[in-house]
Amino acid sequence: MHGLTLDAPAIARQARPGQFLQMDCHPSLTLPRPFSIMNTDPETGMVEVFYKVVGVGTGYMEQWRPGDQPWVLGPLGSSFTEPPEGCRAVLVAGGVGLAPLRFWADRLRQRGIGVTLLWGLEAETVPFATVPARIGLPGGVIESPLALAREEQRGIVTRLASITKKPGFFHGWVSDLLHQVLEGTRGADGPVHLYVCGPTAMMVAVTELAKQWKLKGEISLEGTMACGFGGCAGCAVPVYHGDDWRFVRSCTEGPVLPLDQILWHIPEVNTNSCNKEGERRSCL
Ligand SMILES: Cc1cc2nc3c(=O)[nH]c(=O)nc-3n(C[C@H](O)[C@H](O)[C@H](O)COP(=O)(O)OP(=O)(O)OC[C@H]3O[C@@H](n4cnc5c(N)ncnc54)[C@H](O)[C@@H]3O)c2cc1C
Ligand code: FES
Repeated sequence: MHGLTLDAPAIARQARPGQFLQMDCHPSLTLPRPFSIMNTDPETGMVEVFYKVVGVGTGYMEQWRPGDQPWVLGPLGSSFTEPPEGCRAVLVAGGVGLAPLRFWADRLRQRGIGVTLLWGLEAETVPFATVPARIGLPGGVIESPLALAREEQRGIVTRLASITKKPGFFHGWVSDLLHQVLEGTRGADGPVHLYVCGPTAMMVAVTELAKQWKLKGEISLEGTMACGFGGCAGCAVPVYHGDDWRFVRSCTEGPVLPLDQILWHIPEVNTNSCNKEGERRSCL
């Protein structure tokens, strides 16, 4: 996992948490690659990204050096919205899904909204500084827990989870940690509003928990994209639409969408329903 700092004043001024950038990783690649914005400083023009090498493009990014000038487009897409009055925000991140939620945690805290950030991490090394947690979490789900140093300093409660045993981490999936936190607090500090970003399996697990606990929230999708600005439909995801469903472009209507709107499996499409009157089940 790597951090990347860009000097991009226009993006730093405009970016909202949840939005993303399209970056050209190498001239040999036809398509840019999307990355969430993790942090900005409108005064210095700094924009931070946090990424993991998974293939060709991110492999090229790893070789970038200070002074390189990649083509970057953004900020793109939708952003997170504030929880309803009186709710506290619980942010659930998996791996590099931490990036948009770190940005959102800062903003929520600045607006005086209570934030708990839970991060599941399976990498061997922890890429950010940690400290013994001093800000308490009702329910006390981990003994001698660690917290992210930067967030702890800013008054944001953080807890870490891993299925590999790591000292100071909750042992299990981050969705298990969320379950423990919900059990421990049981609405003591007000109703919970969820914000989620991470691998699909984790987001499905958290969506299931949200159903069980009757919680609302928002999810930031990190699936495949092509153009990134609504021109190709390469990012279509199925969402509930009244009693039916439809496709939305996750680059323009998303990547942030309501948690209960995502349809994780596409229902079998009856092609006859694309009927003579030209009615279509999708909105592409
Ligand atoms: C809105 C959005 C925000 C994102 N934010 C971040 C971020 O902050 N940090 C980060 O590291 N990644 C993020 N991603 C994922 C990132 O875009 C991909 O990891 C990247 O495009 C992979 O490019 P590549 O050329 O290295 O991989 P490729 O060579 O194109 O693919 C290599 C392998 O990775 C898989 N892969 C490709 N794209 C994705 C994807 N989106 N999700 C899961 N697997 C994929 C492929 O199926 C293949 O197996 C985000 C994606 C979206 C849509
Ligand atoms: S990626 Fe092209 S429309 Fe979304």
